[in-house]
Amino acid sequence: MKALNEMELSFPSCSANEGFARAAVSAFVAQLDPTVDELCDIKTAVSEAVTNCIVHAYRSTIGIVYISCRIFENGRIVVKVRDKGCGIEDIEQAMQPMFTTAEGERAGLGFAVMESFTDRLHVSSRLGKGTSVILEKTIRRRPAENGQ
Ligand SMILES: Nc1ncnc2c1ncn2[C@@H]1O[C@H](COP(=O)(O)OP(=O)(O)OP(=O)(O)O)[C@@H](O)[C@H]1O
Ligand SMILES: [Mg+2]
Repeated sequence: MKALNEMELSFPSCSANEGFARAAVSAFVAQLDPTVDELCDIKTAVSEAVTNCIVHAYRSTIGIVYISCRIFENGRIVVKVRDKGCGIEDIEQAMQPMFTTAEGERAGLGFAVMESFTDRLHVSSRLGKGTSVILEKTIRRRPAENGQ
């Protein structure tokens, strides 16, 4: 299905860019007139995905994080966050709540947060090649206030 609107971004995996990515996606999806809660959910999910690229995919090195955001009919938003970092050995295990490879530093809840704040989460990865996280959420159209 063809997107009604789309944008792409790429930036180095420094932590300062986590806030930039969040704000950029938020500004783009604002055209769908989401509620504050819907926008907050998308921002939080994007933030978790980008943080994973920064801290896990590229670790102490700097690589490029790629984001694409597409808007489809009926308010469906698809955000893809991709890296060319170390990859994930066992995706199913990585997605378990509280599983982390950074014990003592991290809670292991990023994927659980992404899952609960979106309608669909899809993760694909190849060891040594990188990881791709697709987040989908539909912004429901609300009847205008005062019947207008
Ligand atoms: N982009 C990625 N590249 C490589 N490994 C990843 C990537 N994203 C996640 N992982 C692996 O999956 C694990 C689980 O990720 P998740 O975001 O759920 O938890 P976390 O990042 O460890 O902790 P938290 O998100 O709570 O700070 C990570 O510990 C890491 O091993
Ligand atoms: Mg995480």
